[in-house]
Amino acid sequence: MKIAVLGAAGQLGRDLCPRLAALGDVIPLSRADIDLERPDAIAPAVAALRPDLFVNCAAYNFVDKAETDWSTAFKVNEFGVQFLAIACREVGAKLVQFSTDYVFGADPNRATPYSEDDPPAPISYYGKSKDWTERFASTQAPNGLVLRTCGLYGVWGSGGKGGNFVETMLRVAGQGKPLRVVSDQRCTPSYTADVAEATVRLIQCGATGLFHVVNSGDCTWYEFAAEIFRRSGLKPDLTPITSAEYNAPARRPAYSVLSTAKLAGVIGSPLRSWQDALAAYLVERQNKPA
Ligand SMILES: NC(=O)c1ccc[n+]([C@@H]2O[C@H](COP(=O)([O-])OP(=O)(O)OC[C@H]3O[C@@H](n4cnc5c(N)ncnc54)[C@H](OP(=O)(O)O)[C@@H]3O)[C@@H](O)[C@H]2O)c1
Repeated sequence: MKIAVLGAAGQLGRDLCPRLAALGDVIPLSRADIDLERPDAIAPAVAALRPDLFVNCAAYNFVDKAETDWSTAFKVNEFGVQFLAIACREVGAKLVQFSTDYVFGADPNRATPYSEDDPPAPISYYGKSKDWTERFASTQAPNGLVLRTCGLYGVWGSGGKGGNFVETMLRVAGQGKPLRVVSDQRCTPSYTADVAEATVRLIQCGATGLFHVVNSGDCTWYEFAAEIFRRSGLKPDLTPITSAEYNAPARRPAYSVLSTAKLAGVIGSPLRSWQDALAAYLVERQNKPA
């Protein structure tokens, strides 16, 4: 099987490529190979590759910047994915497309995990652009997979953002600076190694459609930071704050916990808890090759 992976150098892409190699020949692709901002170039590039499977880890991921630079967010996440999905359908490739918990958030009273049947209701331009990602991936490449995940951290760090939340927490704490972290956004930070494993399992099972792929349990970002420091033996000056105090340009969901019951039904079990995943990450980062 020929497997094309766009965004192969991103944090999820780097964890996925070696695992996908168990299924076939992996062709890692970067923006230089296929630029999702250039729809005219997508179909010819996909036609030249003729993959059996196309895994798209590339996205416009700058949640705050998208509030002003929304045209680029929509160019990449809406139109780029639309053209990619059509190109995959034309060559008979199965598309695996990633999305986000930020397609939710409009319901301020939500307190139970979202299922795949809940209608998206995003509250940011990034979330809206990824809602369109999902619509086009599912309608134009209907035999593919759309995988919603959340708060990714992996040893390779986010290509676009440089690093990840865990590394930011450890770096700032190491500098002896105080940390103020939001305690009114509840979700499930997820380890890219676990998301990558589950993605491969879903492909192996022949699954199609929309799935939530996150670690188990949930926490606020403040609780996640506290757990990072507890497990690292650090005692920084950590203060919970509200989203209003943090005052980021983009609104985030107060609650965007995703149910993984559907995933567990197909691959046999849910992913391990976010606490166990974090523990594994903290070990892996120590052994990361330079
Ligand atoms: N990070 C999170 O917390 C999070 C949470 C939920 C869902 N997700 C979703 O999970 C997926 C993977 O995220 P990630 O954290 O692994 O992302 P990442 O590390 O930031 O990597 C994103 C990749 O997208 C590529 N890219 C950006 N614009 C492109 C374009 N116009 N054409 C082609 N490639 C382009 C980047 O390449 P360059 O480096 O060349 O720009 C980079 O390799 C995305 O769909 C994202 O929306 C992420």
